[in-house]
Amino acid sequence: MSELYQLHDVTHRYGERTILTLPSLTIQRGETFALIGASGAGKSTLLRLLAMLETPSQGTVKIHLERAWYDGHQLPLAQRRKIGMVFQTPIMLTRSVLENLAFGLQIRGEKIVKARLMAMLEQLQLAHVATAPAYTLSGGEQKRLALGRVMILETEVILLDEPTANLDPTNIALIEGMLQKQQRTIIIITHNFFQARRLADRVGFLHNGELLEVGQAVPFFNQPQHPVTRSFLSGEMLF
Ligand SMILES: Nc1ncnc2c1ncn2[C@@H]1O[C@H](COP(=O)(O)OP(=O)(O)O)[C@@H](O)[C@H]1O
Ligand SMILES: [Mg+2]
Repeated sequence: MSELYQLHDVTHRYGERTILTLPSLTIQRGETFALIGASGAGKSTLLRLLAMLETPSQGTVKIHLERAWYDGHQLPLAQRRKIGMVFQTPIMLTRSVLENLAFGLQIRGEKIVKARLMAMLEQLQLAHVATAPAYTLSGGEQKRLALGRVMILETEVILLDEPTANLDPTNIALIEGMLQKQQRTIIIITHNFFQARRLADRVGFLHNGELLEVGQAVPFFNQPQHPVTRSFLSGEMLF
């Protein structure tokens, strides 16, 4: 495996408040990395930095694409498009499900192959609503569509902000099944420890903007090293 992301001495502030302090973090190409932690810990902020939607107040967030390292300041559009992000709240165009699915391909100027779109809708179990306006979908269906919209693009990495929050077990299983088939690098924020254990190669626990513990999923959950991780996992910490 090679490295996809390197973070060095990252600090991120909003105004006077320091939200993130990350001395170092490396994400390997092809791994699934789950980010857990209480509300307000800084998980979404870290994901936005990895998406290069923001640049850190201090330090560097670098991604390795096409044999070169880039930070957010000098990331060309073609490389920016290698980063796919699924936001916590799906944003739907007031168009059909099919048109929503095709939107990313369209703005990238890629050929729209109807059969490919339909195959994705089949996987998402949304084929029966292909021509329905996207806003008529249920919450779970919209989350699936938002995921499909990124999955259909040939990105190097998929960043997911709580993709299964508030979904029923059937929806969760469908989404997890799709993620498990991916060869790409996946970084997923989840409140579901079982999900992190099922999906992730490595898990990171973010607490007050610091990565207190990062480890391989099995030892991370079986023998958490840090006392705060232990209390978080045992549910003693409110979140
Ligand atoms: N754009 C912003 N401006 C100011 N404060 C922000 C902004 N985004 C997030 N924050 C603050 O940063 C902290 C971490 O937020 P966030 O990354 O969303 O946490 P999490 O996703 O772990 O719940 C919170 O206290 C939040 O209020
Ligand atoms: Mg968040």
